[in-house]
Amino acid sequence: MTNPVAVSPLSDAAPGSVERLITDEHVAIRAHLTHLGELAKALPTLDEPTARQRTAAVLDFLSSGLLPHAAAEEVSLYPAIDRLVGTGATRTMTLDHQAIASMISQLGAASGDFRPGERVEVQRLLFVLEGLVMTHLWKEDTAFVPLLARLDPEAYAALHAEIAAHAGHDEHTH
Ligand SMILES: [Fe+2]
Ligand SMILES: [Fe+2]
Repeated sequence: MTNPVAVSPLSDAAPGSVERLITDEHVAIRAHLTHLGELAKALPTLDEPTARQRTAAVLDFLSSGLLPHAAAEEVSLYPAIDRLVGTGATRTMTLDHQAIASMISQLGAASGDFRPGERVEVQRLLFVLEGLVMTHLWKEDTAFVPLLARLDPEAYAALHAEIAAHAGHDEHTH
């Protein structure tokens, strides 16, 4: 059985549209998220320097790629959805962002000790974060993106400008 949460939706939105900018950004995030599960599975048998280096790379993506994406949504996409659907429509998604940020902090704190036998907490957080963020992206793609067609042209253009500016500043690579 396929897992709908882990699959990037095939976007039929026009290249450059707001819908496409959002789903393309999520496709890029999903590619990084698979590294979390891969690392969690490999962690028990990795030597200490490799475990440390790979966890640092994941933390770098989470802090400088994922968290800025979430922060940008809270000032652009989510207010636009709230105006369409009603105040509070995106509240649960903002709470997801808070839970994700908290787990990233916990992961940073737990990754100070990579002695064999001390890696279970890092492993747990990697698995939980992968699942939580995958589900969060799925909800945005399937519940929010289709609503954007209802924006009036002015609101659509304003959201496009905000999201394009953010996407242009995403310089995270690895
Ligand atoms: Fe989000
Ligand atoms: Fe998102």
